[in-house]
Parts: sequence; structure tokens; C-alpha cells
Amino acid sequence: MLLMGCLACAASAVALADFRAESLAANGLAPTPPMGWNSWNRFGCNISETIIRSQADALVSSGMRDAGYVYVVVDDCWHGERDAAGNIHADPARFPSGIKALADYVHGKGLKFGIYSDVGDLTCQHRPGSRGHEYQDARQYADWGVDYLKYDWCDAGTLDAASAYETMARALRATGRPIVFSICEWGKNKPWLWAAASGGNLWRTTEDIFDGWEGKQGISLSVLEILDAQPGLEGYAGPGHWNDPDMLEVGNGGMTEDEYRAHFSLWAMLAAPLMAGNDLTSMSDAVRRILTNREVIAVDQDRLGVEGHRAARNGDLEVWVRPLEDGARAVVLLNRGHQSAHAMLEWSMLRLPDYLPLHIRDLWRHANRPDATSHLAIELPPTSAVMLRVVPARPAGAAHDRR
Ligand code: GLA
Repeated sequence: MLLMGCLACAASAVALADFRAESLAANGLAPTPPMGWNSWNRFGCNISETIIRSQADALVSSGMRDAGYVYVVVDDCWHGERDAAGNIHADPARFPSGIKALADYVHGKGLKFGIYSDVGDLTCQHRPGSRGHEYQDARQYADWGVDYLKYDWCDAGTLDAASAYETMARALRATGRPIVFSICEWGKNKPWLWAAASGGNLWRTTEDIFDGWEGKQGISLSVLEILDAQPGLEGYAGPGHWNDPDMLEVGNGGMTEDEYRAHFSLWAMLAAPLMAGNDLTSMSDAVRRILTNREVIAVDQDRLGVEGHRAARNGDLEVWVRPLEDGARAVVLLNRGHQSAHAMLEWSMLRLPDYLPLHIRDLWRHANRPDATSHLAIELPPTSAVMLRVVPARPAGAAHDRR
């Protein structure tokens, strides 16, 4: 009996491992970090179908869709009630046309549509969560045309995180519709260790972001606080499964333009999902230029999928480095402090020999700097970053030698 029990045990463990390895860890989605817009940071619960439609319109007219922002995600508070059969409905006052019509509208713009739910009975804003309704909700989302699910961790009680998320991942998979699965568990149970195996394409690594450069606001974290939680997690990210340092605050008004540029640069270095969180219908040109900087976006979306790391730190100055598919490196020089500072990038920080001439592209000025060897000195304004792409300079004539 005992032996049989053990054999059954082993067989189911193998089956589970196979299922995880073959089906969940690689649903084929998010080969690069997802990009889009999410309602939460700017609108909170104050959402409606009119707002979502106009944000979708603005994604297109601002050029953001064409720069890669394709997911329009409706966060918490779209929900109405469950009916007697347990089917979830949208809030009839705020979404009178229903979610399917909204998804159709978004799809009609060449965009994809995302929605939000929660592992518990209640979402963080006390709307109906999916606990006990996972398969029913997943089927409903698929019928509506949902392409992305953000799944939160409020009201989780004593649930085991890996299992709770795996249940929804299986439910999504059972629908047959490709749906990106965004795990929003705030880093509580070290999701980098299990979230990819539980079917997640991305997982939050921290509590919520707020629109500020440094410090905390209650449990919410500034850009620098979130940044400091990332070192050590780099190795867990890769194509199809990404660390998520939370959505962007660019354009929400709490930071300077330099700080927003630094926030955006750093998120690109972290191979972060780029989910804009501002009001796209009224953003300034400066904000639009930050969000649509294609040279920075190209770093975020680099297909090698290796997350950047902090290569050096000296007081308020930091150097972040990210290897890219074509052999170049993206580099961010960051000044966290409130004084201008003199930063030094040394080739040793890039693990390159001193004598190597490097070709240096400034991704915010959209211009090349002179080629250099051994080091580069840069003056950084307070609370700002410079972002570069460096690549060994090709000796004259080398282009002809390439096949
Ligand atoms: C949590 C999440 C946020 C947002 C809110 C909605 O705090 O971490 O990103 O989805 O819930 O209530």
C-alpha cells in the first residue's frame, strides 16, 4: 500500500512538473515585456467606458500604439454584481454597453484589451473577486475578448500564492484564448521563485508605486524605493516571464521632467512591462516624447531579454548596465541626489577592456557622443539620468568584412 501510494505520488509529481514546464511557463506570450496603458494610477475607481474609449483613442493619436503600447487594461472597479448563475457583470452605470462592446472598440483600434480580478472573494476595492469562480470568469473573459488579465492578491487569507495563481493560469489556458497573465502579488511570497512556473508572464516585485522620486507614502513606494528592491531579481526574468516593478507614473504630475525621464530609463533597463498610467488625452508634448522615445523603448524590448543590473554605486551616483542582443550595452548613469554631480563611467563597469574604443549613443539627446576609450565623464543635473547605448567602435573598413 505504502509503495503504491508513493508511486502514485511520484507519477502525479512528474505530471505536474510536465504540465508546468510545457504548458504554463511558456504560453508563448510576452516574448518581450508587455506595453500598454492601465487605468489605475491616474483614475483609480473613477473609470467608465467613456474614459477607457478616449484613452484608447489617445493611444492611437499620440503615436503610442505605433511605438508599441498595445494593451488597454481596465483595472479595479469595472465590476457590477454576479448574477444568480454566478456570472460576473460590469457596473451598469459606468459600463452601460458592457465589457464585450468595450473590448470590441479597443480591438477596432488595433489594440488589445485587458481586465483585472483578484484571487480573493473581494478585490482591493471590495468588488467581486474570482475565488471559486476562476474557470467561470476565465471563460467569461475569453468570450468578451480579453487578451490580458491582471490578477491581484487582496483578501487572499491563507491561500497558497503559487497554487492560487496556478488555478487561474489553468483556467485561462482552458479557454483556448491567448491571455497574458499578470501576477500582482506585490512580492509578498517571492513570486520570482514560482510565478513563471505558475503560469505568470509577469509578476509584481513590490507594493504599489506612487508618483514620487524618493521615500514612501504609507505602504506605497517611490521610484527609488522600487529601484532598490530590484537588485538580485535580474536572473529570474527572461522572455515570457518578467519582473514587474509596477506601472509608470510618467506624466501624473508628481515628478520633474528629468525624474520622469530617469524613471522611464530605469524601467527600460529593468526590462519592465511599460504600462503608462497617465491621462493620455491631456498629456504634454514633453510627456509624450518621454513615453514614445523609441531608442529607450528598444532597450526595454530587446529580444535577448536579459534584465539590467546595478553595476556600480557611489553615494548618490549609480551605473546600471544591460546587455543587448546585438552585443551593445545599454547604460544608465543615475544621480539620485539633489545636487549636480560629476559621474564617471569606466569600461571596467561594463566588463570591457580599457583600450577598447566605444561608440556612444545618447538615447535622450538622440545624438552620438565622440568615441571614447577607458572612461566617460558626464555632468548630471540633480535627480536625473543619462541613458546611453555603447558598442565597440568598428575599425575603419570593417563594415566591408562583414557578411
Ligand atoms: C492593488 C494593486 C494596484 C491596483 C489596486 C486596485 O493595490 O497592487 O496595482 O490594481 O490594487 O485596487
